[in-house]
Amino acid sequence: MLVLGIETSCDETGLALYDSDRGLLAHCLHSQIALHQEYGGVVPELASRDHVRRITPLFEEVLAAAACERKDIDAIAYTAGPGLIGALLVGASFARALAFALDIPALAIHHMEAHLLAPMLEAESPTFPFVALLVSGGHTQLVRVGGIGDYEIIGESVDDAAGEAFDKTAKMLGLDYPGGPALAKLAVDGDPQRYRFPRPMTAKPGCNFSFSGLKTHALTTFRSTDGSEQDKCDISRAFEDAVVDTLFIKCRRALEATGLTQLVVAGGVSANQSLRKRFGEYAAQSAVQVYFPRNEFCTDNGAMIAYAGYRRLQLNPSSDSGIDVRPRWPLSELGAA
Ligand code: KG4
Ligand code: ZN
Repeated sequence: MLVLGIETSCDETGLALYDSDRGLLAHCLHSQIALHQEYGGVVPELASRDHVRRITPLFEEVLAAAACERKDIDAIAYTAGPGLIGALLVGASFARALAFALDIPALAIHHMEAHLLAPMLEAESPTFPFVALLVSGGHTQLVRVGGIGDYEIIGESVDDAAGEAFDKTAKMLGLDYPGGPALAKLAVDGDPQRYRFPRPMTAKPGCNFSFSGLKTHALTTFRSTDGSEQDKCDISRAFEDAVVDTLFIKCRRALEATGLTQLVVAGGVSANQSLRKRFGEYAAQSAVQVYFPRNEFCTDNGAMIAYAGYRRLQLNPSSDSGIDVRPRWPLSELGAA
């Protein structure tokens, strides 16, 4: 079975072809970073228009890269939410129209479910049940994953998502959008001893997060300096260490609470090298196995959508949907069917 995946929920147009026998055949991505950079963040209307421009050429490109033809495609999976409504509608209507033309099903995929399953595209992949830490621009969640559609949220951010906190802190330091990777780059040259930022909510029981205070802490600290490059590096380092440490402490707590020994870390922030190192070291020293997607599949991409579509079709071969988009869509509302 050959599944075409289409991702257009935010500022990346991603298309991919996943084959049930041969695995991932090809994936193509167009990032809108350059388009939004001068505005310091994603401009929804510009994002939608760019998806319209890119989606057809990317479709041709992914077919060519996989050496496939349209008629080979058995199903189309598209991101139906959560995300920007205009951007989602581009992918949904393209998918639905193509599915009509080819007389094949179109499946509405939950973006966070796709992030959560992304490590399963790798050779060493987790098996159910596991704990997933989802860390993206819009979400920070700890989920007990029993199987496809069996998602119990055991912790989440009460304010900013981790990626959002990275982005806002970066903006405050005068860094370009997208802020997360820019801040992480500065942190490499930061002095880890100069500042110690708080680890929010780690003194409280439970697995919830709060990251908005860290951003304020970074701002207050920044105002007390001369604003030199080294100051920015040191603040970036203290901020990144605090986020990584907090995520780590809560993950360990979630693993203890559930008694599970496999941890999946996915979503844009899982591309952070310091986070990967910290969790990797933990895995090496404990009985816990930690699974990440490869770097390019941490942030938004079509491969994870194609794969999630394949898993959903396996579960329910007759699944099909109309043009279904949900800008807000809690992961906990998903079921197996
Ligand atoms: O999953 P994603 O591409 O989009 C959403 O579903 O939100 O995640 C994007 C988020 C952004 O906030 C971005 O700054 C953050 O992931 N991010 C990073 C890194 N790469 C992306 N944050 C920290 N370090 C990184 N290397
Ligand atoms: Zn995402």
